[in-house]
Amino acid sequence: MGSKNKIIITNLYILGHFSYSDIAKSFRKAINRKEGILAIGGTSTQSSEGTQHSFSEEERYAFVNWLNTALENDPDCKHALPMDPNSDSLFKAMGDGIVLCKMINLSVPDTIDERTINKKKLTPFTIQENLNLALNSASAIGCHVVNIGALDLREGKPHLVLGLLWQIIKIGLFADIELSRNEALAALLRDGETLEDLMKLSPEELLLRWANFHLENAGWQKINNFSSDIKVGICRSLFQDSRAYFHLLNQISPKGTEEDQPRIDISMAGFSEKDDLKRAENMLQQADRLGCRQFVTPADVVAGNPKLNLAFVANLFNKYPSLTKPEGEDIDWGLLEGETREERTFRNWMNSLGVNPHVNHLYGDLADALVILQLYEKIKVPVDWTNKVNKPPYPKIGTNMKKLENCNYAVELGKTTAKFSLVGIGGQDLNDGNATLTLALVWQLMRRYTLNVLEDLGDGQKANDDIIVKWVNTTLSEAGKTTKISSFKDKEISTSLPVVDLIDAIQPGSISYDLVKTGSLSAEDKLENAKYAVSMARKIGARVYALPDDLVEVKPKMVMTVFACLMGRGMKRA
Ligand SMILES: *[C@@H]1O[C@H](CO)[C@@H](O)[C@H](O)[C@H]1NC(C)=O
Ligand SMILES: *[C@@H]1O[C@H](CO)[C@@H](O)[C@H](O)[C@H]1NC(C)=O
Ligand SMILES: *[C@@H]1O[C@H](CO)[C@@H](O)[C@H](O)[C@H]1NC(C)=O
Ligand SMILES: *[C@@H]1O[C@H](CO)[C@@H](O)[C@H](O)[C@H]1NC(C)=O
Repeated sequence: MGSKNKIIITNLYILGHFSYSDIAKSFRKAINRKEGILAIGGTSTQSSEGTQHSFSEEERYAFVNWLNTALENDPDCKHALPMDPNSDSLFKAMGDGIVLCKMINLSVPDTIDERTINKKKLTPFTIQENLNLALNSASAIGCHVVNIGALDLREGKPHLVLGLLWQIIKIGLFADIELSRNEALAALLRDGETLEDLMKLSPEELLLRWANFHLENAGWQKINNFSSDIKVGICRSLFQDSRAYFHLLNQISPKGTEEDQPRIDISMAGFSEKDDLKRAENMLQQADRLGCRQFVTPADVVAGNPKLNLAFVANLFNKYPSLTKPEGEDIDWGLLEGETREERTFRNWMNSLGVNPHVNHLYGDLADALVILQLYEKIKVPVDWTNKVNKPPYPKIGTNMKKLENCNYAVELGKTTAKFSLVGIGGQDLNDGNATLTLALVWQLMRRYTLNVLEDLGDGQKANDDIIVKWVNTTLSEAGKTTKISSFKDKEISTSLPVVDLIDAIQPGSISYDLVKTGSLSAEDKLENAKYAVSMARKIGARVYALPDDLVEVKPKMVMTVFACLMGRGMKRA
């Protein structure tokens, strides 16, 4: 099969999930329209197939500089970096997938097994593989890539490249703005609040609190209501004149009290500069002294570009949080368990399907069932949005009742239309965020979604575990492989050898067997094999959400999704 066909198939695969109903179609149109109006301020337009898409030159400039710094020392990016931020070289540089793979791995370390990236003597086919690897890995970390195909990246479509890059960069910037990963964030607790209240906040909300916390300490005005500001981006009114930024930098700059950090005193000399742009430049020169002149130009500060100012603040937070974990107070740290691997995978899966709002906290963000209802649509269960669903903004009084009604409807749909097994699960449990019961529903949604993809490929034939196991066994034996599986609980899966063999059966010659450990395997060997297997699966075009540890530990649910995705990929080969 030529590489052109493969590209088309990848695109169909990505779009396939969406083509089932008129609702979905109009939804997709809405998204496409939205992409067309992305640009803010100075814009450029590119026409492709008669469609005009504008993109933001500010974003291009900011992301190029960020990439240039982030990947500066990576020998595999020498062919592409440094890029000129004032040119379109970014869009060309994305075309072979290498830089993209590296950025994904920077945002979520260990997502991509280095060994699976094609780096030398690239051909259209091996480039295609890199782009598959990048796109499927981006999905796996929760990027919404439904409208982006490998061909778009290959051609360097600016609005799509920038859209994807922003998602990847943001995931990296936000990774540590999360209480369970950074307990010092509890310093942001306000009177009368519990840790639980704080844990419900989105990373954007936490960032704004953080900025306000430091501004308050500086005796500078803070924003008390951010509900409206957060919509336009946290930084508009707060930072546009750079004065709040000056104070923020001054608060967070290292004071020389920690051994490994020399003292840096922020100069406030530019604070009283009359001209907005010059003041912004002065402020950024101070940020530069902290190694934080990133994402914004003086013009972006003055214009209040929401995306880029958010990134600037997030980067400041990551470099200099300057918070002290509160001690000896009445705080129940036991709550801070952090999310499980399974919870994260479910969340990434949902976000990759583009649910709105973005799911930051699995239970809290599903408590009004709106995301669950969107997921029903993805598995072809029609939702009566007009008559059965309460949509935000919810009324001040009776908010929870409205959410509970949605939850009840979600359970009802599951029991009646979707025919899920939901014994003992009520709307109240979703609304309360009961982990066990919410996970039970979410897993059935993900499982059905995975099977639907298979059924669509198999002309509507029903798919189930047995059919997948049989297909795996048959495909392995037809390719002359000696591995086989008895079920998704088969201990042999812990070696990842059946997965690796299956990948090689689907795409003969794709596996470098010299990289695969065999014989009696240590825990480390198993993990190496699993990392290789997961990245290889993504590289040949399977949208695998599971993680290497799921294979090593033989987690039956996630194992099922791996084999189902590979079966889907294998059926497209026919
Ligand atoms: C991905 O990240 C891990 C951990 O940071 C690193 O060991 C590995 O070399 C990286 N791989 C790529 C492809 O950048
Ligand atoms: C928030 O503050 C802005 C002005 O700073 C005001 O117009 C708006 O009504 C306030 N919103 C809320 C919800 O209090
Ligand atoms: C969640 O629901 C299960 C089953 O009803 C129950 O056993 C468990 O205690 C609940 N968990 C919480 C935290 O309420
Ligand atoms: C797959 O192969 C295993 C091992 O030979 C066998 O036990 C099992 O019955 C087979 N399963 C299916 C569904 O073919």
